[in-house]
Amino acid sequence: MIARTLVAVLVAVLAGAAVAQQPPPNVRPTGPTPTCTTGGCHAEVTRHPVLHGPLAAEACSGCHNAADPAKHTFSLARQGTDLCLFCHEAPKGEVVHQPLKAGQCLDCHDPHGGKSRAFLKAGSASENCATCHQDVTHGRPNVHGPVAAGGCTACHNPHASNQLKLLLKPSNELCLDCHVSSAQQIETSRVIHEPAQKDCLLCHDAHASAEKMMLRKAAQPLCLSCHENIRSTVEHAKTQHGAVVEGRQCLNCHEPHATNFPRVLRNNPMAMCMECHNKPLKGPDGPIADMSAVLASGKSLHGPIAEKNCSACHQIHGGDNFRLLIKEYPPEFYAPFKEESYALCFSCHERSLVLDPRTTTLTGFRNGDLNLHHLHVNKDTKGRTCRACHETHASDQAKHIRNSVPFGKWEMPIRFEKTETGGSCAPGCHVPYQYDRARPVTYPSGPDKPAAQWPAAPNKGS
Ligand code: HEC
Ligand code: HEC
Ligand code: HEC
Ligand code: HEC
Ligand code: HEC
Ligand code: HEC
Ligand code: HEC
Ligand code: HEC
Ligand code: HEC
Ligand code: HEC
Ligand code: HEC
Ligand code: HEC
Ligand code: HEC
Repeated sequence: MIARTLVAVLVAVLAGAAVAQQPPPNVRPTGPTPTCTTGGCHAEVTRHPVLHGPLAAEACSGCHNAADPAKHTFSLARQGTDLCLFCHEAPKGEVVHQPLKAGQCLDCHDPHGGKSRAFLKAGSASENCATCHQDVTHGRPNVHGPVAAGGCTACHNPHASNQLKLLLKPSNELCLDCHVSSAQQIETSRVIHEPAQKDCLLCHDAHASAEKMMLRKAAQPLCLSCHENIRSTVEHAKTQHGAVVEGRQCLNCHEPHATNFPRVLRNNPMAMCMECHNKPLKGPDGPIADMSAVLASGKSLHGPIAEKNCSACHQIHGGDNFRLLIKEYPPEFYAPFKEESYALCFSCHERSLVLDPRTTTLTGFRNGDLNLHHLHVNKDTKGRTCRACHETHASDQAKHIRNSVPFGKWEMPIRFEKTETGGSCAPGCHVPYQYDRARPVTYPSGPDKPAAQWPAAPNKGS
């Protein structure tokens, strides 16, 4: 802030100092050329560890004019900020700190000198700020590093600035200057969370917080304050997902700032599911299978899973369907047939598969033209749901047929064998059956009525 003209000014000031150095009549000179300070009177104004430039040069007249030399009275050379701006450049910026607007450099600075480089009246910068501003932490327990260290001026210009709130720089630049690893993460990531690109202060408080990590709110309410759709899912879902409400909640899966994975996820989506589903879990309606074991148990993965897309079928944040499924799927083993209750499977597979009793095209699961999907599934009372025969996630068999079906505590084997034109099964629930698309098999109990009987659950419909 020192003006280029300072040297010239100082010269002029020093010349003028001769006037001020006239010993007043009521003071006895002590040396050959007594001055205001060596004259034995005002020594105290120079007794500062750090002296203001003009005082070091005995240039008292830079600021003091002799009003009446005879009476030894003085007036200030100029008023308000002009006193200082005679030698210093005026602070620049659209936002000017109130005390400067009011012309009060002296609210903060001692004109003669002080303990610190800027000879602040109150000692340190933060002590100085505290003389007018209430404790900016407002008693919140987690105080930001530089605030705790009294570094108000690490972020604020005490005089003026072009940024709101007298900030030294736009807030993101300011934060990222110190938070180099966050800066690196944001610069080098492919996916950046929009608010982190816009303004750190959308989520963080600069001074202090009741929450960890200087967050304005705890992470989950913070996320939900902007993501209304997720809020209503989380609050109203009939089936809640433990992942969203337990532990680090949203942060179990999402990064707050930036990442290389889509949807600001912490990892690729399927790897993330497996961080928790690599062991049996307890759900509200009973045990939940260890999915890494399930996936490892079958050589062939169901299409969307082979593409690592668990959310093709599951609503991660919660939903109204059984097992967080995106669409309806019957939770039961037997269910009266309704087309809509298979909306999940039929969002990718042809629904006519189970609609027509006779077909030569719709499905491979037929005996001649007898549609065995229709026969098993499309029943008013005890239709078999797809899970009776198919494994949704992974299986060893062709056509994702299961090896076994849980029946109570018993894993009932199905023993499916596929042939060129059909297949056979020998499950625990009925005698071995075959089907053949080219050379239809004749069933003992009549072509339309294989004696499918689940033990302990007689199926009168078949
Ligand atoms: C940069 C401007 C400036 C310079 C240079 C300066 N003064 Fe001051 N001085 C002031 C101001 C402003 C006040 C009034 C202080 C106040 O009101 O807070 C003051 C007040 C005083 C006072 C009144 C008592 C006090 O300490 O408040 C004395 C005595 C004094 N100055 C002596 C000197 C002497 C001697 C010199 C030179 C060695 C000198 N000043 C140089 C600005 C200056
Ligand atoms: C007569 C010229 C002059 C006047 C008037 C003047 N200053 Fe200074 N000021 C200087 C000089 C010279 C320096 C020393 C510059 C250096 O060391 O680089 C200085 C240094 C400072 C410094 C320390 C700056 C630093 O970077 O270390 C502060 C703070 C300061 N002045 C505040 C004020 C205030 C407040 C006023 C008004 C009350 C004022 N000055 C009036 C000449 C002046
Ligand atoms: C609200 C308090 C406050 C007011 C009012 C104020 N200053 Fe300062 N000033 C400071 C603080 C605090 C520093 C030290 C900044 C730092 O630590 O980096 C400072 C530093 C300075 C410096 C040193 C160089 C620099 O910019 O860091 C100069 C010169 C200066 N002030 C001049 C002035 C002048 C001239 C005025 C009036 C026009 C003034 N100040 C008004 C608080 C104030
Ligand atoms: C002499 C009293 C005084 C001192 C000392 C002081 N301030 Fe201020 N400050 C004010 C006043 C008055 C306002 C305007 C009213 C308000 O916003 O509270 C203000 C406003 C501010 C603002 C808001 C500016 C805006 O544009 O809204 C910030 C930031 C600020 N001060 C920071 C500081 C910092 C940092 C310090 C210490 C280096 C400091 N103040 C020292 C009196 C002071
Ligand atoms: C890490 C940077 C940083 C530090 C350090 C810092 N502030 Fe701030 N301060 C800010 C930011 C950013 C804002 C604007 C807050 C906002 O808009 O939400 C602000 C706002 C303010 C305001 C305006 C009122 C308000 O709360 O909006 C005052 C006054 C203030 N700070 C004073 C201080 C004081 C005093 C200190 C030192 C004890 C300090 N600040 C330390 C960044 C900082
Ligand atoms: C002057 C340097 C500086 C600036 C500017 C700064 N910080 Fe900090 N920040 C720190 C220090 C130092 C810590 C304490 C580090 C620690 O405890 O590991 C910290 C801690 C934090 C923490 C908590 C980290 C933890 O591990 O507990 C967050 C969050 C944070 N800062 C965010 C911000 C934001 C947002 C901004 C911009 C408004 C900002 N910082 C500006 C220096 C800075
Ligand atoms: C959408 C809200 C949000 C925004 C915007 C945001 N953060 Fe964060 N930040 C968080 C959350 C949540 C955490 C806590 C992460 C955790 O606990 O793992 C955090 C943690 C941090 C941490 C400490 C841990 C770490 O990752 O190093 C720092 C530092 C930090 N943020 C700085 C910043 C900076 C700088 C910006 C602006 C560029 C910013 N944040 C923007 C939400 C946000
Ligand atoms: C200040 C508001 C705000 C906060 C707080 C916030 N977000 Fe965001 N978030 C956005 C905006 C804006 C977008 C970009 C627009 C969009 O896709 O909705 C976004 C995008 C996202 C996306 C990517 C959406 C997509 O379509 O790719 C995810 C995931 C996300 N946020 C999760 C979170 C999580 C988790 C948190 C809490 C740590 C959080 N958000 C906090 C505003 C916010
Ligand atoms: C179990 C991991 C997991 C948790 C926990 C989680 N998410 Fe997600 N989130 C995802 C996945 C996976 C996607 C991508 C879904 C897709 O692409 O269909 C996603 C997508 C999003 C999206 C963008 C798409 C959309 O549906 O709008 C937002 C926003 C979002 N999550 C916010 C949140 C918030 C807020 C929380 C905490 C309440 C949260 N997430 C918790 C895994 C999770
Ligand atoms: C942070 C741990 C965690 C992560 C990550 C996680 N889950 Fe879960 N999940 C659980 C817990 C705990 C349960 C059982 C308790 C519950 O749902 O309330 C569960 C239950 C489920 C259920 C059964 C829900 C029911 O109650 O019927 C499904 C389906 C599910 N998770 C799918 C996923 C998918 C898909 C992913 C990956 C996008 C995933 N989970 C990631 C912890 C996790
Ligand atoms: C093609 C649709 C589909 C895809 C893709 C899918 N699931 Fe499922 N998931 C289901 C169905 C259907 C159920 C209910 C199975 C049942 O009860 O017969 C289920 C059940 C679950 C359960 C509960 C298991 C239990 O013991 O009841 C978990 C956990 C689960 N899935 C996790 C995942 C994970 C992790 C992925 C990604 C690797 C994934 N799912 C991909 C359809 C799918
Ligand atoms: C998101 C789309 C999607 C959903 C939902 C879906 N599937 Fe699939 N399914 C596929 C794809 C893609 C294939 C082909 C790749 C393969 O063999 O897994 C496939 C293959 C199959 C096959 C083997 C077909 C063949 O010709 O080899 C069966 C059986 C099957 N799915 C059953 C189901 C059942 C039962 C459901 C409902 C629980 C279901 N699918 C839900 C996408 C889906
Ligand atoms: C009683 C056992 C059984 C039930 C129940 C069953 N399937 Fe199948 N499904 C099969 C058999 C066996 C095949 C293999 C046909 C072949 O290629 O030989 C098959 C094949 C398929 C195929 C491959 C294309 C085709 O039709 O040949 C799809 C897709 C399929 N089933 C979906 C479903 C869906 C969706 C459900 C529930 C609505 C379901 N299945 C219920 C036994 C069953």
